[in-house]
Amino acid sequence: MTQVIFTIFGASGDLAKRKLYPSLFRLYKSGVLSEHFAVIGTARRPWTKAYFEGVVLDAISDLTTSKTEAEKFASHFYYQSHDVEDADHYVTLKNLQDELCEKYQTSHNKVFFLAMAPEFFGTIASHLKSENIVDGLGFERLIIEKPFGTSLETAEALNQALSETFNENQIFRIDHYLGKEMIQNIFAVRFANVLFEHVWNREFIDNIQITFAESIGVEDRGGYYDKSGALKDMVQNHILQVLSILAMDKPASFSSADVLPEKIKVLESLCIPDEATIAKNFIRGQYQAGRINQQDFPSYVDEPSVDPASKTETFASGVFFIETDRFKDVPFFFRTGKRLTEKGTRINILFKNDQNIFNQDIQQNILTIYIQPTEGFSLQVNGKEVGKNFAVEPVKLDFRHDAEALGNSPEAYEKLMYDVLNGDATNFSHWQEVKASWTLIDQIVSTWQADKSPLYPYQSGSMGPDESFDLLEQYDTSWVWQP
Ligand code: BG6
Repeated sequence: MTQVIFTIFGASGDLAKRKLYPSLFRLYKSGVLSEHFAVIGTARRPWTKAYFEGVVLDAISDLTTSKTEAEKFASHFYYQSHDVEDADHYVTLKNLQDELCEKYQTSHNKVFFLAMAPEFFGTIASHLKSENIVDGLGFERLIIEKPFGTSLETAEALNQALSETFNENQIFRIDHYLGKEMIQNIFAVRFANVLFEHVWNREFIDNIQITFAESIGVEDRGGYYDKSGALKDMVQNHILQVLSILAMDKPASFSSADVLPEKIKVLESLCIPDEATIAKNFIRGQYQAGRINQQDFPSYVDEPSVDPASKTETFASGVFFIETDRFKDVPFFFRTGKRLTEKGTRINILFKNDQNIFNQDIQQNILTIYIQPTEGFSLQVNGKEVGKNFAVEPVKLDFRHDAEALGNSPEAYEKLMYDVLNGDATNFSHWQEVKASWTLIDQIVSTWQADKSPLYPYQSGSMGPDESFDLLEQYDTSWVWQP
């Protein structure tokens, strides 16, 4: 049972309503939070406590049938109308913190969740210190969401601002993919199976393919997305994080103290491509009008809040190489985009098959990790075809979670909040990881911005431009997943 006060900056926002309140409620239901906790929500709007409780009740309405339970939970929520730049408001906040600490006996433990635009992170952190809200009396942890900067330079400035108040081990940078069940499962697949552990290297793995496909477009986020694009929105964070888990060496133990340095080592060993290599190995695309599931969709440039002359990529694909003993020269292909054929996140690991004694072609062993929407693994192996002739054919060993297991699997945010309460940083991005990934991404961005490689159009409902398929051909392989 945890004693803590959560302070949520951006309490009236979408993230808070859709993810944070339901996650806190699940933690409450499971007993992780009970009597000794309170939540202070802050935002500009002049809400009352009663109104805020109503918002919380609304957000958790699907998660319980007990009105008493829901109301008891919501009674722990307090609201303060707050202008993040006004020092006086932090004084009021400090008073409320002290009062609630007394009332709920929270031992001065505090978690701050900044669920708002990153340009305010530095201001908030510095006020938390100057107004003595961060006072060192209990544990004090800061949770922030991406984007962590928009380039190495801005990320460094942000980090510098935060580090005036918080140490690295107090900062929890959420990458919500690291809270997903099947991403965490990669650790189990790799390190709990002798079958894979010994072949997880350049001697046996031919290439790895990472696909993060989405069928949705930019929705109502055109304003943000048009300044970001697929590379910064998905690759700099989610895809490189997954790559680091796939490519890391075995940690001495499954703890953040051992896991994070191994992941950092991978990201710091990424080859930084020069301009010519970027032109050859990285593809950018933008969706055109098209049809998905019998529905017509407009081109990206016709979406709301998008510049009609925009050159922002809604699709990115490419190949990364890592200079480590384990994976030197092994291609890590990736692709991600909006308005693709269907939503699907999956990883294919293709093994080498260069010891063929049969007088026929045999298929590569392929391990597929299905992240979402289905969750599970499959392994393609070879067996003998039934019959009097000896012919080898591939068969698939397939495992998917059943509906019940999926229903019970904790939401990514719930798991991540639980980790924060336990001070476990394993599933969060360390500053060194953020720094290394921006170093690589900046390089690609600058080549693309200088228009040194084309922006390929692709039809909505396809799997991106043909050039993404041609890329793999150059390496004598092809995308395993072709929906
Ligand atoms: C977010 C991106 O980080 O991840 C979005 O900003 C994207 O553009 C989303 O849609 C995808 O997450 P999920 O969990 O729906 O696969």
